[in-house]
Amino acid sequence: METGGNPPRRDGSGSEVRRFRRGRRLRETPAVRALVRETALSAAHLVLPLFAVPGARREEPVSSMPGVRRLSPDLILRECEKAAALGVGGALLFGVPDVKTGDASGAWDMAGPVPEAIRLIKRDLPGFPVITDVCLCEYTENGHCGFIRDGRIDNDLTLPALARSALAHAGAGADFVAPSDMMDGRVGCLRDALDASGFAAVGILSYAVKYASAFYGPFREAAGSAPSSGDRKSHQMDPANLREAVLEARSDLEEGADMLMVKPAMWYLDVVRTLRDRFDEPIACYNVSGEYAAVKAAAANGWLDERRTVLEALLSMRRAGADLLITYHALDAAGWLRAEGKA
Ligand code: PBG
Repeated sequence: METGGNPPRRDGSGSEVRRFRRGRRLRETPAVRALVRETALSAAHLVLPLFAVPGARREEPVSSMPGVRRLSPDLILRECEKAAALGVGGALLFGVPDVKTGDASGAWDMAGPVPEAIRLIKRDLPGFPVITDVCLCEYTENGHCGFIRDGRIDNDLTLPALARSALAHAGAGADFVAPSDMMDGRVGCLRDALDASGFAAVGILSYAVKYASAFYGPFREAAGSAPSSGDRKSHQMDPANLREAVLEARSDLEEGADMLMVKPAMWYLDVVRTLRDRFDEPIACYNVSGEYAAVKAAAANGWLDERRTVLEALLSMRRAGADLLITYHALDAAGWLRAEGKA
């Protein structure tokens, strides 16, 4: 059977030369490879996660995430200025309060580090998109994502607190709120609260498909949010499930989510692809702390080339169908892309 476009040829002996598809024609030179490249990665797709602590000129390295620091709002602004200058698409802010309480009240403290950082960014970089993580685990004494009643996380008791937190972020000027708590019904609850308070323009990026993953380990050091007992399996998804991801995504869209997130990213690209094929809304994937730490550790040992590994991983997320890539590598990757003329 004819499988390629080669014209019939003779090799001089009179016999016909064997024909096959010559895929290498399309890989021979950089210019031809660029011409047929299917997927583009640029800095505009990247979102930089940042950990905000109270105070000023305060920075604390996170030992399990080399290169990542908890920063006070003034330094968060500096980091966002760097990101914006490199063409990074936006920032995702997490709050790490000094005091955690039983009622998680830091989550809606308008003087807390997240609202303060948002106000500074919106004052000096008004066009730079700011997304905020909405969850209670950074603010509760026990590190749980919701309030505990009778030994269980009480879903409906938690929803109003999440809404209050989202309103505090919206009030400070956030463009999107991103609930990561995995309580049922929280997207609708946040949407109602935002609309009722004059924040119809503030969007929701839902952590719709968030798995109970071992890869969040380093984040919990960064945010001091490891649960004091138990785990998050009663609300985060079972890594074994894919159809359930579609159910979660669909219900969050019905409740009013503007964008969907899949988390983690690197080991879950089948999930990204499945959602891409089923939904037309923008999809974000979160290249989480453990994925970052693993690449950094291998690179520090000389076992992986950091630049090539990171750019390949991010490109693969785009190829799987993600629009936004949330990654701690954002500044480095944007710098490398700029050096390659792709910023
Ligand atoms: C808060 C939250 C977590 C992450 C994002 N938001 C931790 C968790 O669910 O335990 C993880 C991010 C990362 O690992 O980079 N609920």
